Amino acid sequence: MRNALIIAGTSLCLALPAAAQDMPNAYADDAAASAVPLEEGVRGTSSEALQDTLYELIALKHMTHQSHWNVTGPLFYSLHDLLGEAYTGLGGYIDQVAERKRALGAPADGRPAAVAQNAALPGFPEGLLADDEVLDLLLTRYETVSERLQQRIGETSDDPVTQDLLIDVARTIEKDLWMIRSFQL
Ligand SMILES: [Fe+2]
Repeated sequence: MRNALIIAGTSLCLALPAAAQDMPNAYADDAAASAVPLEEGVRGTSSEALQDTLYELIALKHMTHQSHWNVTGPLFYSLHDLLGEAYTGLGGYIDQVAERKRALGAPADGRPAAVAQNAALPGFPEGLLADDEVLDLLLTRYETVSERLQQRIGETSDDPVTQDLLIDVARTIEKDLWMIRSFQL
């Protein structure tokens, strides 16, 4: 009986790769690219816009989280709370942006070293940060990402699904900007 179970298990293991090979995998085969939504040129533009956005959102989330932990001063609690909401919101969009790129047949790159190299945002200081310094640091970085998103929204008009996602991200970034600026008025 025990041997029978082992044999049955072995044949199941052997059968899995063959079954997997039989499954269509449009996402790994250039020749089957027509199975992926949109034509190649449009997908390329969208993939680039999504990947650049992914790098920036991951970097921005880490900077926001770093600020959430290290902010000091009279505005500590308000900023700690606000930035906690902000990095949580960015986390949801990071996943959506990466998965939209996968839906278009392209891999999503969220490797820490690649993010550091490609987000094209200024670095972030270590240690404790005064509340007014946090506001300045985040304001410039959120503004940069907001401007880049506006450009990408224009570039992805042939792919309204990707464009709609980028508009969602931009709406949230602009709302965060409003809240950051409100401390400085
Ligand atoms: Fe926290």
